[in-house]
Amino acid sequence: MARITTDFLVLGSGIAGLTFAIKTAQAHPDRKILVLTKTDQGESNTRYAQGGVAAVWDHEKDTFLKHVEDTLDAGDGLCKREIVELVVEEGPLRVQEIIEWGARFDKEKGADGNYDLAREGGHSEHRILHYKDLTGWEMQRTLMEEAHRYPNIEILEHYFALDLITQHHLGRMVIRVTPDIECYGCYALNKQNGEIDTILSRATVLCTGGAGQVYKSTTNPVIATGDGIAMTYRAKGRVENMEFVQFHPTSLYSPAGENPSFLVSEAVRGFGGILKTAAGEEFMHLYDERLSLAPRDIVARAIDSEMKKRGTDCMYLDCRHLDKDAFVAHFPTIYDKCLNMGIDPMRDLIPVVPACHYMCGGILVDEHGRSSIHRLYAAGECSSTGLHGANRLASNSLLEAMVFAHRIFEDTRNKIGGWDFRTEVPDWNAEGTTDPGEMVLITQSLKELKEIMSYYVGIVRSNIRLKRALDRLYLLYQETEDLYRSTTISPQLMELRNLITIAYLITRSATHRRESRGLHFTTDYPGQQAFVEFSVL
Ligand code: FAD
Ligand code: SIN
Repeated sequence: MARITTDFLVLGSGIAGLTFAIKTAQAHPDRKILVLTKTDQGESNTRYAQGGVAAVWDHEKDTFLKHVEDTLDAGDGLCKREIVELVVEEGPLRVQEIIEWGARFDKEKGADGNYDLAREGGHSEHRILHYKDLTGWEMQRTLMEEAHRYPNIEILEHYFALDLITQHHLGRMVIRVTPDIECYGCYALNKQNGEIDTILSRATVLCTGGAGQVYKSTTNPVIATGDGIAMTYRAKGRVENMEFVQFHPTSLYSPAGENPSFLVSEAVRGFGGILKTAAGEEFMHLYDERLSLAPRDIVARAIDSEMKKRGTDCMYLDCRHLDKDAFVAHFPTIYDKCLNMGIDPMRDLIPVVPACHYMCGGILVDEHGRSSIHRLYAAGECSSTGLHGANRLASNSLLEAMVFAHRIFEDTRNKIGGWDFRTEVPDWNAEGTTDPGEMVLITQSLKELKEIMSYYVGIVRSNIRLKRALDRLYLLYQETEDLYRSTTISPQLMELRNLITIAYLITRSATHRRESRGLHFTTDYPGQQAFVEFSVL
């Protein structure tokens, strides 16, 4: 059981975590930045991003106002306008920085060498910078290479953060309305030796990503189990807007059910791909005048509704009319994946189905990335900044992560010296726990959890489905807490526990929202209410 101290503790090595670490390392060469990551440093949602990063780049055609309006429109009345403006306006500076660190984005052919700006659903202009269909891979590569240049950044791989340390661990009663909760670091499982270390920090930044694994079908890798959000909720921090779970309309349909589901980027529709039925008929005109390029919530619901009407397992994307060379140049990974599945995108319709993709809600933070717990910040997909409202606009999340990582760096810059270590924090207490005899207790509960969320709290919800979900979740919660109290900690058990918390937060927030808005659609309240509010838990 080691005790480790660090000035800055960063949980997560995706775009949010590494951007913060690099900037802080540059500004404070004398301070230590410790980054924990629960598997390899390159494994993150960031690594799988395809479409790209949205930023106003071509000022002749595009404006900040247009990007702001598109974001507000997708967010369906729940975005915070001041946050949208600052992300849109500061975003291009952050994109420029990652270019300077070495990120390559595709350029147009020809002498000018301007960036090849793509378009995705809900965007009124071409403004998506991308690297083929591997933008996230390129950004993750760049960030890791840049981070390795700084000796004061240490990345600990295969370290699983278990719980945030607050006054609760010093024996004080902490409840959700306690005004001065402070974070002193975290307990983390060193997966290589099975020991639980105490990591004390002056400031802690949560960059733990999304929670897609709470559903059966998701584009998110298996690391996306909502750990940061669940840890914050357990530490009595504020979490909001959890009912707004984004389903991507077009994951590749696989009869065998892959985890994660492979994404067919929205950029394919931006490039001219058209949604169709198995018989080759278009259907999006029945739902929205923007057709296949309507915002995601609308397209995902349209596909879901057509599948239910027809009793089919998928709908289709038609790319047969597109230029093959250009398609392969833009989407080499998607093209190869389809071929490997026996689908030739130039001859066959591509079968697609909605899959859970992005958590719009999360840890409530202000414009500086500060959570409701002092000395605890959050950035990236685990946070809720007010940018996305009830539905995220495509390619806005990589942008948000970079903007808020920078803002947290600025906020902590002059404060860090004033925050001391709390060395009296005790070690983790594992007394009375033994090895779990049967892993099946964990794996079966996880399967049940995913079934509950997929059938009762998916794209279309209703009061009775949400009630059923809550009843069943309560049982799973009790069984898992019993297991937690009596068995040795494992990543599988902690992920299950965290996902049950995430499921509860989604379902409870959905129950509170008695209207349909953005990504939350319920058959009991199909319309919107004039008075809208954030669901803060
Ligand atoms: P992540 O990149 O997910 O990083 C999370 C990190 O936290 C990982 O290092 C993980 O190991 C670590 N972690 C988690 N829990 C723990 C724990 N308990 N202990 C220690 N470490 C932990 N967005 C766009 O803007 N444009 C796109 O084109 C786009 N395409 C996408 C395509 C796919 C297939 C997916 C899944 C998402 C896409 N997104 C896209 C969304 C975007 O990629 C993510 O929202 C963003 O990358 C999240 O970055 P992050 O830094 O917040 O988290
Ligand atoms: C995609 O490429 O369709 C994903 C873009 C995003 O999630 O923002």
